[in-house]
Amino acid sequence: MQIPTNHTYLSKTLRNRREKLAKLIDFPTILWSGSSSSRNFPANTFPFRPSSHFLYFAGLPIEDAAIRLEGGKLELFMDNLSPSNLLWHGEIPTRDRLAEIIGADAAFPIKELKDYAANAATIYVQNPTTKITQCQILNRDIFPSKKHQKIDLELTKAIISLRLSHDDMALTEIKQAAAVTVKAHKAGMAATKNAKFEANIRAAMESIIISHNMTCAYNSIVTVHGEVLHNGEYYHPLQTGDLLLADVGAETTLGWASDVTRTWPISGKFSPTQRDIYDVVLAAHDNCIAQLKPGVEYLDIHLLAAKTIAEGLVNLGILKGQPEQLVEMDAHALFFPHGVGHLLGLDVHDMEDLGDLAGYEIGRERSSRFGLSFLRLNRPLASGMLVTIEPGFYQVPAILNNTETRQKYQHIVNWEKLKHFSDVRGIRIEDDVLVTTKGAEILTKELPSNTDVIESLL
Ligand code: GLY
Ligand code: MN
Repeated sequence: MQIPTNHTYLSKTLRNRREKLAKLIDFPTILWSGSSSSRNFPANTFPFRPSSHFLYFAGLPIEDAAIRLEGGKLELFMDNLSPSNLLWHGEIPTRDRLAEIIGADAAFPIKELKDYAANAATIYVQNPTTKITQCQILNRDIFPSKKHQKIDLELTKAIISLRLSHDDMALTEIKQAAAVTVKAHKAGMAATKNAKFEANIRAAMESIIISHNMTCAYNSIVTVHGEVLHNGEYYHPLQTGDLLLADVGAETTLGWASDVTRTWPISGKFSPTQRDIYDVVLAAHDNCIAQLKPGVEYLDIHLLAAKTIAEGLVNLGILKGQPEQLVEMDAHALFFPHGVGHLLGLDVHDMEDLGDLAGYEIGRERSSRFGLSFLRLNRPLASGMLVTIEPGFYQVPAILNNTETRQKYQHIVNWEKLKHFSDVRGIRIEDDVLVTTKGAEILTKELPSNTDVIESLL
């Protein structure tokens, strides 16, 4: 495990975080890190990624560990490696050394955790084996199970309120992830000329992330079929005339993420139709970012993206009507079916393990409307929040060829005109934007989004 050189800064930050938590709740908390999952047999595992709630308060990716927080104090529970583990995995710092690095007040073997578990709240870890351990140690069900205890929900809300706003150390890490992500995208653009398959461009991008000793924050999307929103395949050959959509983001060793998308032409030149649609998406992206500041509702940012896209498509003759009314009818969602973005932090969709508790302000629920149901964030913005802005345009066969949809929007879409844009399957432009006291800062601004500059990088 790589230990940060400045661990005084780390331990000070962690102390700050748990002291803030102690002001919000008056019961103990136990957070588990989780274990790595086996791919096919026990010794062959997926890379370990700790629970983000653990990481937020423990700072380091320690496997099979737990921390107990109470009144601003931190206790670390973990076992030192056995001789056989030392043989296969080498030395990691001992429990006492790790406790010192993260500024723990005490450290114990993991088997002693059950003696400290009374009245403690927790949050589920995604790993199923750890979930079972959590219930066993606490001897009860955990939120969101119906039989959970109220303290789990109180803890969840307290942690959300802390993680919604990023402190200096988080921002330093996120900026590092953003800088490497920008480099990865530039490398992907530069590699396009000599690439034959999507996989070649993916390799060029991920190699930058790996060579900075970072990992991908999520499965990369590098595809000429951008209309498949979370496309995870990389085998398609690259054809002149295709657009490539690359949604690739780095994660630092301490777990902080970046999430960026660019779309560029394989040939090095956007066709006139590709450029037209690209500029509509870019206008939505730029309009939204220009409006970000504390107090603004993220829902309004989403609606602004929807309106800008509707307006652009009316100007291109693809949609017919008034932009506001088209948005009310969800006509924009025929081509922009997802939300304009989400929270970003330790998770690429930050705290989405908690359902909509983090993304949605208390008292708000997801709309079932076609144009709003995939909106992941519906809160007023506040300084310190990090969000993505990622409008897009897609021709999704499952939407556009659906009989009911075609009937409903028969007179709204100029279906004949749309055929002229058949070389645009999917475009998305995504940046990571920090809300500041004065407005907003684009953390990924070093990566161009303008068509002319992108062409020059190809
Ligand atoms: N980067 C993928 C997503 O935001 O869903
Ligand atoms: Mn995203």
